[in-house]
Amino acid sequence: MDKVVVELEERSYPIYFDYEGFDRVGDLIKKHVRSSKTFVITDSNVYPLYFEKIEESLKKSGFDVTHEVIPAGETSKTMEMAQRLLEVAYDSGLLRDSSIIALGGGVVGDIAGFVAATYMRGIDFIQIPTTLLAQVDSSVGGKVAVNLKKGKNIVGAFYQPKMVYIDISVLKTLDKREVLSGLAEVIKYGVIWDFDLFTYIEKNLEDILRLKEESLTHIVKRSCEIKAKIVSLDEKEENLRAILNFGHTIGHAIEALTGYEKYIHGEAVAIGMVYEARLAFNLGYIDEGYLERILNLIKRSGLPADYEGIEKTDMLNAIKLDKKMREGKINFVLPVGFGKVDIVSVKEEDVLKVLK
Ligand SMILES: NC(=O)c1ccc[n+]([C@@H]2O[C@H](COP(=O)([O-])OP(=O)(O)OC[C@H]3O[C@@H](n4cnc5c(N)ncnc54)[C@H](O)[C@@H]3O)[C@@H](O)[C@H]2O)c1
Repeated sequence: MDKVVVELEERSYPIYFDYEGFDRVGDLIKKHVRSSKTFVITDSNVYPLYFEKIEESLKKSGFDVTHEVIPAGETSKTMEMAQRLLEVAYDSGLLRDSSIIALGGGVVGDIAGFVAATYMRGIDFIQIPTTLLAQVDSSVGGKVAVNLKKGKNIVGAFYQPKMVYIDISVLKTLDKREVLSGLAEVIKYGVIWDFDLFTYIEKNLEDILRLKEESLTHIVKRSCEIKAKIVSLDEKEENLRAILNFGHTIGHAIEALTGYEKYIHGEAVAIGMVYEARLAFNLGYIDEGYLERILNLIKRSGLPADYEGIEKTDMLNAIKLDKKMREGKINFVLPVGFGKVDIVSVKEEDVLKVLK
């Protein structure tokens, strides 16, 4: 089976790529965990679609399986929910050598990972991501977290899984809007790292949107390779890993100012990429041709390229509140060439000029 390895010395782990292959998942997981006791955390949308298949495969491989279903959506990513899951883990008799499996999108992955990182000071953790966003981004790299009322992902850890299992066929049941949200992150990898990936998406966009196996497998695998490489070079985001935030500085501000309701994550990132690319153009880092290609690809995909109803000054304040603000300057990840970005300190007045 195809795989990509996240190289982190003794904590290295594989990302497996499969297609309608859930019958193999139990045997694969067995190779990467210490005992047969496992706890599957999933959400209310994913549970009826895929849990039974996974449970069957796990049981066939000798696992003793318990599970818990959390309500689908970001509002489940809380300390209260984590506490409930930790208590279920304890009541089910999970021990230090047991494992937790996250079956779902980024919400499930983040909270299940947080529970795995904290239960008995950390037990084996497996990711089975089921959204495009989780497959290309959140399941790889070990960031796990829950939200506080006042801020997203404030409580968390770096906690790498033992393996990631990606079945691309599960994307068939995903909402179109969620597919596009994940695609925004794939476009991001093209801009920050691999311009061949960017041109591949330009050429194969229709097939990707039709969820054709070959093109989908290509973009998911390439995205995982890129994220794996970046994480292996800078696991704790001391420098290089920050480039993954292209589009996110303005994207996060848009999400926060619209109460996390109007736009889903990838949509806000798409708009953020358009504005940050415009900023790069205004500052002379990229030419107009490249700016147009980024804008056109986002528009052709069906992702939003613009926001409405946010005042310039509110946006600037929200950007300044973001954790990427250091020593009075606003740090942006800006494109500086095809498949290349830099971290640039930008003056407030230049940011204001690009905002509506
Ligand atoms: N840890 C990281 O590095 C990282 C990176 C990016 C985002 N995130 C986090 O990820 C979260 C967003 O993740 P997401 O976009 O996957 O959202 P999500 O987990 O809420 O999933 C989106 C929706 O799709 C449903 N769903 C999932 N898989 C499905 C399938 N195969 N078929 C049908 N429906 C399915 C879910 O139930 C949910 O309703 C946010 O909390 C964000 O903070 C984390």
